[in-house]
Amino acid sequence: MDSKKTIILGIESSCDDTSAAVCVDGEILSNVTASQKVHEEYGGVVPELASRAHQENIVPVVDKALKDAGVKKEELSAIAFTQGPGLIGSLLVGTSFGKAMALALNIPIITVNHMVAHVLAHFIDEPKPSFPFLCLTVSGGHTQLVLVKDYLDMEVVGETIDDAAGEAFDKTAKMLGLPYPGGPLLDKLAKTGNPLAFKFAKPRVPDLNYSFSGLKTSVLYFLQKQEEGFIEKNLNDLCASIQYTIIEILMKKLIKTVDKYEVTQVSIAGGVSANSGLRKKIEELGKENGWDIFIPQFQYCTDNAGMIAQTAYYKYLNQDFATQDVSPKARFKI
Ligand code: KG4
Ligand code: ZN
Repeated sequence: MDSKKTIILGIESSCDDTSAAVCVDGEILSNVTASQKVHEEYGGVVPELASRAHQENIVPVVDKALKDAGVKKEELSAIAFTQGPGLIGSLLVGTSFGKAMALALNIPIITVNHMVAHVLAHFIDEPKPSFPFLCLTVSGGHTQLVLVKDYLDMEVVGETIDDAAGEAFDKTAKMLGLPYPGGPLLDKLAKTGNPLAFKFAKPRVPDLNYSFSGLKTSVLYFLQKQEEGFIEKNLNDLCASIQYTIIEILMKKLIKTVDKYEVTQVSIAGGVSANSGLRKKIEELGKENGWDIFIPQFQYCTDNAGMIAQTAYYKYLNQDFATQDVSPKARFKI
């Protein structure tokens, strides 16, 4: 490969997906993700098991990302990794691996904030938004309304005060007896259910913030009142009604934020942006209100290293490098 090109290896290991990607001059040439199945039987991510699985996966995943991109490690310009937020043991695997590999190759390291990367996933494919735009980042750990002024200049203007939207999906799915992570399965079952069959509580939270813990309690109390066999008989309607409520909650504050900041470009990112109901609803709102809507491809919605490498490319252009003494951060604000 041309030695004048900027070639970045990105590594993501913040939760339960080990991922590596190669970005060449701002274009993602490979994105390889190994998802960990080991957590399914526990109904949630077990941090220690996640760290161990990352250790097993990281070498083959990085190897495959380089191979798929047709890049030799000696050609790399820099190595980027997720510094946080996330599970500390999981982050340690990616950060230690990235630092060691960069040291061996004598190239710079770039640290990436996972939540910034979810937002910049919109710059991987066409069409790309222009600044300023609003991004609703909805994942398993976060729900944020982000006003994006430039690649590396963004502000969280609203966020959840308790559970994240992904947690609302996963926890209510668990109450319905669905395996972890329940979000994608709940989405699938909701497709043939009636979204107005059951009504659940919606929060009253000031400003542009969210709350999902009340919905969780409302679903729990509702289910506890029912006779045996109720869930099995009404599963699709329950899924559709829960999904409908989560989307209504998300959209209410999104509309308020668009009005307040007078943006015309609106996007969704993070694992929950893979939800078919949410994707449909935001497209509809875009048509009704004249907004341009941006949604990443599925592989760049859930955790992936493509978004890490893409973010690192913008930091590389600013020569924003980290030093070898950098360490992971479980909590890391945008
Ligand atoms: O961004 P992500 O992959 O990881 C975190 O950074 O947390 O998001 C994972 C979350 C999980 O809660 C998962 O259930 C949810 O995204 N999710 C979905 C769908 N696909 C993933 N939730 C609803 N519908 C989906 N199709
Ligand atoms: Zn994420």
